[in-house]
Amino acid sequence: MERLTVAVPPAYDVVVGVGALGAVADAVGARRTVAVVSQPGVLAAHGDPVLAAVAATGARVVVTPIADGEDAKSLATVEALTREWAAAGLLRGDAVVALGGGVVGDTAGFAAAVYHRGVPVVQCPTTLLAQVDAAIGGKTAVNLPEGKNLVGAFHQPVAVLADVATLATLPEREFRAGLGEVAKYALMDVGPDSTAVAALLDARCDAVLARDPAALADLVARCAAIKVRVVSDDPEERTGLRATLNYGHTLAHALETVGHHDLHHGEAVAVGLVFAGALAAALGRIPDPAAAHHRDLVAALGLPTVAPGLPAADLLAVMHRDKKAHGGLTFVLRGPDGLTAVDDPPAPALDAAFAAVGIDA
Ligand code: GLY
Repeated sequence: MERLTVAVPPAYDVVVGVGALGAVADAVGARRTVAVVSQPGVLAAHGDPVLAAVAATGARVVVTPIADGEDAKSLATVEALTREWAAAGLLRGDAVVALGGGVVGDTAGFAAAVYHRGVPVVQCPTTLLAQVDAAIGGKTAVNLPEGKNLVGAFHQPVAVLADVATLATLPEREFRAGLGEVAKYALMDVGPDSTAVAALLDARCDAVLARDPAALADLVARCAAIKVRVVSDDPEERTGLRATLNYGHTLAHALETVGHHDLHHGEAVAVGLVFAGALAAALGRIPDPAAAHHRDLVAALGLPTVAPGLPAADLLAVMHRDKKAHGGLTFVLRGPDGLTAVDDPPAPALDAAFAAVGIDA
């Protein structure tokens, strides 16, 4: 089992490996009441040992399920959850356990951030995407009809338990989509502190795609180590470092919005990475083979490299509204100094990058 420490006040551990959920009792500690937020399918697959372990601490366990799907990531769900917690007498010294993927982690995390102005939350991610990214670092949010993640808060968990055994039951498309965030780490992780995600994928791609537990434990731990390092250095995205975790995400968010979520988030990130590589090459920031490596890696993971059929003008309009933008267009791109924000690239470079992902400018 790998244990990584996020160095924020108060510090907390990210436990990665087969059986990491076994640490849930320790993570919860001594509480009078613990609310477990999950979804029916996740509860059926992974709930019993978690509920039993929490009950064995002597806590009263209250299960507050939410619905599946992105629509459940809403203020209405937050209201329903917090009202159930209030009815159950959950107090500030009690705790919430979020057992599930990004929808559960984000929604339960945000509800925990605002209930009694903050109750402790243990994040137990059960999808690849949540294990390598969403569950670590305390970003919590729900959606508004006007856009994704528009209402949120930083609320660091007291622990993250990433049990790779839970990945065995993920639907294939959801598992592959998680590899989009893995590809992000592989392509952003080029400095002297590299945890060699790309080298692991080169050596053990088949084992990863076959969901070999040892390969997945190694992969998730290496990705999580990058996230832990970045979050520890820039927990609230103030220095620009944490924004580099959005590599590939500027186009990805636009693809999701304009395409009305036909692409899963990780699939959109995969296309966004190919775009970011091509844009960096068109700007002369990286050599052409480095851009080709973006495409090859994404393709090797069975993820889309193109997103034809979406109008560039619509994508550009959405990208202008990106959270990172300051009125123009801002991308996180590789270059001689590593990953940095690049404002307003010239139109010919943008056209070349759109062409690289099959979009007519
Ligand atoms: N997913 C990007 C971040 O946590 O900052």
